Amino acid sequence: MFDSGVGGLSVLREIRRELPAEDLLYVADSAFGPYGDKPNSLIQARAAAIVRWLERQRVKLIVVACNTATGVAIDGLRAGTDTPVVAIEPAIKPAARHTKSGVIGVLATAPTLASARFERLVSTHGTGVTVLEQPCPGLAEQIDKGELSSPLARSLVEEYVRPLIERGADTLVLGCTHYPFVASAIQAAAGPAVHLIDPAEAVAREVRRRLLALDLLAPTSRSGTERFWTSGAPGEVRAVTAQLWQRDVDVEHLPPESLV
Ligand code: DGL
Repeated sequence: MFDSGVGGLSVLREIRRELPAEDLLYVADSAFGPYGDKPNSLIQARAAAIVRWLERQRVKLIVVACNTATGVAIDGLRAGTDTPVVAIEPAIKPAARHTKSGVIGVLATAPTLASARFERLVSTHGTGVTVLEQPCPGLAEQIDKGELSSPLARSLVEEYVRPLIERGADTLVLGCTHYPFVASAIQAAAGPAVHLIDPAEAVAREVRRRLLALDLLAPTSRSGTERFWTSGAPGEVRAVTAQLWQRDVDVEHLPPESLV
């Protein structure tokens, strides 16, 4: 699985819970992330390079643990690999089902919100509700630094959440895998009555379904392992990964051929 940085660990956490026997390889593309302020061409090139590298590790399934990569690169990724791909995307459908006020807010990166895929998601599943789109520049960067409750992280959350609540949203979609790590700040800014939706659990269940259908589930008698790689500085990524994953980890540097 991969993400622009450590955000995808929120998906890794759910996959580990759902599938304790599987070996999980996690790539944080920290040298090139956050993707939220990058052009689509770079995100597409990076996602393709990481998928090629994962294929060389002979993985049986790839999880795109980044809404931004799904939004701008998923069609090309699927066309370029024979490996099954499960991709996270903003949970518009469950949010539209849940809202009572008829207004949902989507917190995501600007490229996710600008993608044709997101537009399709809203026109397919968001009919009859008002979908408020909120880009969150700078927030993923704070989380990649492990700054989950810094004054800056808190003020960004306030700034992005408050207008959604003022406009009547009673349901917020966490449309970026980094944001579950600041869910308590988002909840505090939104108020206790507002419901937050994170699709990571649904992604984990989908991974199980796909592996089961392909007869590729690992025997449950074994315990799965996790290995972590980054294109960025392994020491820095290691510290934040240990903080978010809540255990000591090794983070290896991606080999140079995966960095182009
Ligand atoms: N975690 C990523 C996502 O789900 C993106 C954050 C970023 O790289 O800007 O969209």
